[in-house]
Amino acid sequence: MALFERRESDRTQEYFSSLDAASRALSVTAVENDFVEDVYGKLASVYDWTFGPALHPGRLRAIQRMGLRPGDHILEVGVGTGINASLYPRECTVTGVDFSSSMLEKARDRIARKGMTNVRLLEMDAAALKFADDSFDIVYASYVISVVPDPVQVAAEMRRVCRPGGRIVFLNHFRSSNFLLSRIERMISPFTIHVGFRADIDLPAFLAQTGIHGASIEKVNIPRIWSLVTCVKA
Ligand SMILES: C[S@@+](CC[C@H](N)C(=O)[O-])C[C@H]1O[C@@H](n2cnc3c(N)ncnc32)[C@H](O)[C@@H]1O
Repeated sequence: MALFERRESDRTQEYFSSLDAASRALSVTAVENDFVEDVYGKLASVYDWTFGPALHPGRLRAIQRMGLRPGDHILEVGVGTGINASLYPRECTVTGVDFSSSMLEKARDRIARKGMTNVRLLEMDAAALKFADDSFDIVYASYVISVVPDPVQVAAEMRRVCRPGGRIVFLNHFRSSNFLLSRIERMISPFTIHVGFRADIDLPAFLAQTGIHGASIEKVNIPRIWSLVTCVKA
């Protein structure tokens, strides 16, 4: 009986939490651009070692899921040190934007070193993209949504600049659906932002607030606590 009651209350909790997804805060931690820029200014020199190998399987899977074709125009927001740049086929043109000049400097070094001529880099805020509507075939953000102050605004911009029928791809850590883990993630989020990410971004709320429907969601990396969210712009 106790078990039955617990399941009923879990279902009730799930029902109400899906109802308020459209309005609830995505994280317990609020951040501002200046703070994030400062964090990445400090991280730039160690980024590839600290956030490189462990998060790379997800990056590789994301490229596969894009279904890239020669001539595709890709926008990568939060391009960072350009860690994805060599993963794109050279027949695609890539625009990478980031607001951290320190991270972009690393990306410029990498691109020059590897002789990539299909990649351009621009300093820009992902929440206010300076591109016309429908400019890109693929718009991608890897490990960025948990960093930006307003993930919903960034997703809206990503959708705006993606052409109809194009793909919008997010690779990110989102809050666990496990009650205990999600509590821990909320507790540590105000601290993890100091090393570059919020641990508790709420995926159902993010999807509800961005109006993204029919996204495919796949767990990636080890442990499988990161999600690859792929959707097609209607
Ligand atoms: C965790 S790193 C991800 C880098 C890379 N995409 C990767 O796969 O490793 C997050 C990046 O997002 C950038 N960023 C954060 N907020 C941004 C914003 N509002 N506009 C543009 N870039 C932003 C940071 O400067 C940093 O380079």
